[in-house]
Amino acid sequence: MFHIAIDGPAGSGKSTIAKSIAGILGCKYLDSGAIYRIIGYHMTKKNIPLKKSQEFTEELKNVKIEVKNDKYYLFDEEINEQIRKKESGMYASEVAKIGEVRDKVNSILRSISSKMSTVIDGRDIGTVVLPDAEFKIFLTASPEERARRRFCELREKNISAEYDEVLKEINERDAADTLRNLAPLRPAEDSVTIDTTSLSVEDVVGRIKRYVEEKKQ
Ligand code: DC
Repeated sequence: MFHIAIDGPAGSGKSTIAKSIAGILGCKYLDSGAIYRIIGYHMTKKNIPLKKSQEFTEELKNVKIEVKNDKYYLFDEEINEQIRKKESGMYASEVAKIGEVRDKVNSILRSISSKMSTVIDGRDIGTVVLPDAEFKIFLTASPEERARRRFCELREKNISAEYDEVLKEINERDAADTLRNLAPLRPAEDSVTIDTTSLSVEDVVGRIKRYVEEKKQ
C-alpha cells in the first residue's frame, strides 16, 4: 500500500492530474476539497453562518458524508454539480478555517487511506493529513494562468464569468488558504514542487510518474 499527496493552490491542475495518476497506478483518487465544499454547501443551504458557533458545531456532528465508488454523498444524496458553482470554493475555504471541520474531513480521508492506496489532492495532505505519505507533490502555477484555466472551464460549462473576476477570486482564495492558522497551504518539506504554468497535463503526469518510479526503486 502507498499514498500520494498532491497539494497546491486553486486552479493548479491538482484534480485533473491526481485523477490521471490514480488511474495509471491503479489506486483510489480522493478529492479532499469536495468534502469541504459539501460541508460549505450544506451549512449555506441551512442558513448557518460559516463560522465557529454552537449551532455550526451541532449541525456538523449530524452531517453524514460518504465516498462510495468515486461518488460523494451527503445524507445518501449524490453531490457533484451542486458544489461546482462559482461561490462554492469560497464557502469551502471559509469552513476550512474551522478545526472541527478539518478533523471531520481528515478522519474520512484517513479511514479510506488506511484500507487502500490513495492519491489525495488538497492543501494540507502532505503536511497534516498523511505526513507519512511516500510521495508528495506540490503543484503551483501563476495566478494569471490559474485564472485563465478556471475561466475556460467555466466557459465550457456555459457558466458566465469575467476573467478579472475569476482572477480576483483566485487571489482571495490563495490569501484565505495560505494565511489561515490551521493547516495553511504550504509545501511539505519532503515534497517535490512542480510549476505547471507552461506545462501540459501530460508533461506534469509524466514527471510525477517518473518521480514515483524513481523513488520506489
Ligand atoms: O481544491 P478545492 O478548490 O476544491 O478546495 C476548496 C477549498 O477547500 C479550498 O479553497 C480550501 C479548502 N481545502 C482545504 O482547506 N484543505 C484541503 N485539503 C482541501 C481543500
